[in-house]
Amino acid sequence: MKKQRRRWHSVAGEALTEMDKVIMGWENKGKLVPTRDLIKTPEQIEGIRKAGVLNTAVLDHVAANIHEGMTTEEINTLVHTYTVEHGGIPAPLNYEGFPKSVCTSINEVVCHGIPSEDEELMDGDIINVDCTTILDGYYADASRMFVIGKAEPRVQKLVDVAKECLEIGMEVCKPYCFVGDIGNAIAKHAHKNGFTVVRDLCGHGVGNAFHEEPDIVHYGKKGTGMLLVPGMVFTIEPMVNMGVYDVFIDEEDGWTVVTEDELPSAQWEHTFLMTETGVEILTH
Ligand code: MF3
Ligand code: CO
Ligand code: CO
Repeated sequence: MKKQRRRWHSVAGEALTEMDKVIMGWENKGKLVPTRDLIKTPEQIEGIRKAGVLNTAVLDHVAANIHEGMTTEEINTLVHTYTVEHGGIPAPLNYEGFPKSVCTSINEVVCHGIPSEDEELMDGDIINVDCTTILDGYYADASRMFVIGKAEPRVQKLVDVAKECLEIGMEVCKPYCFVGDIGNAIAKHAHKNGFTVVRDLCGHGVGNAFHEEPDIVHYGKKGTGMLLVPGMVFTIEPMVNMGVYDVFIDEEDGWTVVTEDELPSAQWEHTFLMTETGVEILTH
């Protein structure tokens, strides 16, 4: 028999809060609502906030040093050394067997690219650098695109639209909205520009662990997916493709995600805290 998910309940001995009532109302209508463990305590939020500050400093350090001709292994060293020197742990290292401290994904690589000594950044390349930092047990996750030299106009457009997709997703993200509201807005913007949105990978809850519930999909119908309430912490990280949305995983390394048609892909990611008024970026 399928295990029943525990329904939302008030804290023992305490009156129902306004939030309890809203959540129970949606649950009664058959919507997916969070479990209490997905709503962070003020102490947890402080911890994630600090991890976010360090994660941003790591990405700023990459931004200040990335250049044409460097290898992705050198980016890995920059990330690893800086993180450890500042008291953090790079979360990707040994995560489910991932061999490096950062993901570096060039051109047709969508995400989870493995840094390598054999891979040099060349003029016209676009690269996603995805850093996740653990500090005092708390996680923050963000990624940025870097353009090496000058990219072709359509490729630069892809990078720009992917960033806009993240910003638009962030703007529609209000307390008591649904994950599908975010995905719907993101996919619309990508499609309007002639691009597609990857379906096989998504954003996620984050903070106490690398990947928590809920899945934050970047496409779909409004009002679907989980209800998002104040205190939840999650990423939005749209992957936008120039061609088809299909992807495959490199069989040799078991990690590298590549576009099916091998046309370029771009991605930007932030960790967000849902507040009473909207989302706050924790990786700024
Ligand atoms: N940082 C990625 C994300 O945004 C996950 C990378 S998993 C790894 O969720 F093992 F490849 F590092
Ligand atoms: Co990430
Ligand atoms: Co992420």
